[in-house]
Amino acid sequence: MFHPLPVIPKTFKDRVIAPSLLAADFSRIGEETTRAINAGADWMHMDVMDGHFVENISFGPAVIQAVHETNDVFLDVHLMISRPDHYLARFISAGSDLITVHVEADHDVKETLGRIREAGCLAGLALNPATPIEAVEPYLDQIDLLLCMTVVPGFGGQAFMPEVLEKIKAAAAFREARGLEFHIEVDGGIDAKTAALCAAAGANVMVAGSSTFGAADMKEAVRAIREA
Ligand code: DX5
Ligand code: ZN
Repeated sequence: MFHPLPVIPKTFKDRVIAPSLLAADFSRIGEETTRAINAGADWMHMDVMDGHFVENISFGPAVIQAVHETNDVFLDVHLMISRPDHYLARFISAGSDLITVHVEADHDVKETLGRIREAGCLAGLALNPATPIEAVEPYLDQIDLLLCMTVVPGFGGQAFMPEVLEKIKAAAAFREARGLEFHIEVDGGIDAKTAALCAAAGANVMVAGSSTFGAADMKEAVRAIREA
């Protein structure tokens, strides 16, 4: 099913705030998404986990579809799964706007990225903290977004890993040197303080779970990350 491209295209020069649904109240996913949009979220970050690629299981295409049908919001889908190629069609038809796959997963990265774009979605590539930037270097001209994980994926609420900042700087340098325009996204332990460090290193898309959904005032938390 062809999925129209995102309505409000953002460039890598724009700060994008993407609250992670992983930190929301799973008994009220539709309302929680609406709460995030009303708090100023630009995108919704959907953390899909298969219990194999990461040590946790979250949700699948049915939840993406439910959010897509109940809220008009850009869906930034992060597949922390071993076989993104095998499940790709279901995430596309569920209404994903951007699909990010891991370079470490068990698939043909180039082929998967090509399929995502052929379907009319934006294509993202993610790498874990321990994975060197060289692992994604061959694909930088085939992506719309590079996700530099700032925690070991699997759980929200972990501590930010500052050693990833060097990798973010290297990714921004590659982007500049090659005249590319991919977003640089960070995910894990992001709040106003760590967002400022990541932005200074070259990141623009801030995924935040516990620091937004867990905040007493979500609107203020989103604003603080945007201004950081
Ligand atoms: C991978 C997940 C988490 C989540 C963000 O584990 O992707 O990083 O989105 O969690 P917080 O913002 O609570 O660290
Ligand atoms: Zn994520």
